[in-house]
Amino acid sequence: MRRTALITGGASGIGAAAARRLASDGWSLAINYRSRRAEAEALVAELRGVGAEAEAFAADMRAPEDIAAMFAAVDARFGRLDGLVNSAGIGLPASRVADFDAAALLHLMTVNVIGVMLCCREAARRMSTAQGGRGGVVITVGSMAGTIGGRPGNSHYATSKAALDAFGVGFAKEVALEGIRVVTVRPGVIRTDMTAKGLADAKHAATVAASIPMGRPGTAAEAGAPIAWLMSDEASFITGCTLDISGGGFHIASAP
Ligand SMILES: NC(=O)c1ccc[n+]([C@@H]2O[C@H](COP(=O)([O-])OP(=O)(O)OC[C@H]3O[C@@H](n4cnc5c(N)ncnc54)[C@H](OP(=O)(O)O)[C@@H]3O)[C@@H](O)[C@H]2O)c1
Repeated sequence: MRRTALITGGASGIGAAAARRLASDGWSLAINYRSRRAEAEALVAELRGVGAEAEAFAADMRAPEDIAAMFAAVDARFGRLDGLVNSAGIGLPASRVADFDAAALLHLMTVNVIGVMLCCREAARRMSTAQGGRGGVVITVGSMAGTIGGRPGNSHYATSKAALDAFGVGFAKEVALEGIRVVTVRPGVIRTDMTAKGLADAKHAATVAASIPMGRPGTAAEAGAPIAWLMSDEASFITGCTLDISGGGFHIASAP
């Protein structure tokens, strides 16, 4: 039976790119979406077209009951869970700390942190060899933002992503003897819907490019491929760490 991976936020961007690569690596895919039903269904059709088993599952990462129901639905459809990619995530409009909006912060932390932790809870319950599972791999999409405190006005987003670095290390140690590997990948700027509006502004795009040693943002495929490799058996001794997918990080002098 083929290994099955659930990808949150899998209908777009980095999650969809990981799904495409995992399908070509022989995985079956459970594609989570919130509002992007049409995109999720189109991706499922595409993945089936290349011979993968795939299904779309609705769930809002803000709703713990949605998360539990989604994992139960994946159990019912595929009968096993070997991989989890936590790609669902949001940003907020840039804001100085003095102008923070409490409801927006709660939304951010609920999706970017609590949602990930609850998905990891569900994965651990299914994958842990101590709980009758076969083991598995969890890849969480953090961000380089967490390493620099975010670009100006983005300390909120950076904080949510830095939390994932810490959680990933602790989670990895807890389940290392239970067959589960846990890695946090940290993209720099990647061209996806999340960054499209900003990068459409030529001045902003030039500033961003100048802040990256490789001189350009990455593509979703350039993030999806390392995620898929980390999920492969070739990465069998890699856990409890982070992998930066960032074109070299940031030039400190020009990291606006
Ligand atoms: N692009 C970058 O430069 C970059 C850099 C570092 C890290 N990241 C991280 O990479 C991950 C993927 O982002 P992306 O760049 O691929 O952008 P994206 O295409 O906007 O993907 C984000 C996905 O998360 C989903 N999502 C948001 N809120 C959700 C919720 N409450 N429940 C379920 N799904 C939800 C979105 O679906 P809906 O639109 O339906 O809500 C969307 O499919 C995110 O965690 C992001 O923080 C991105």
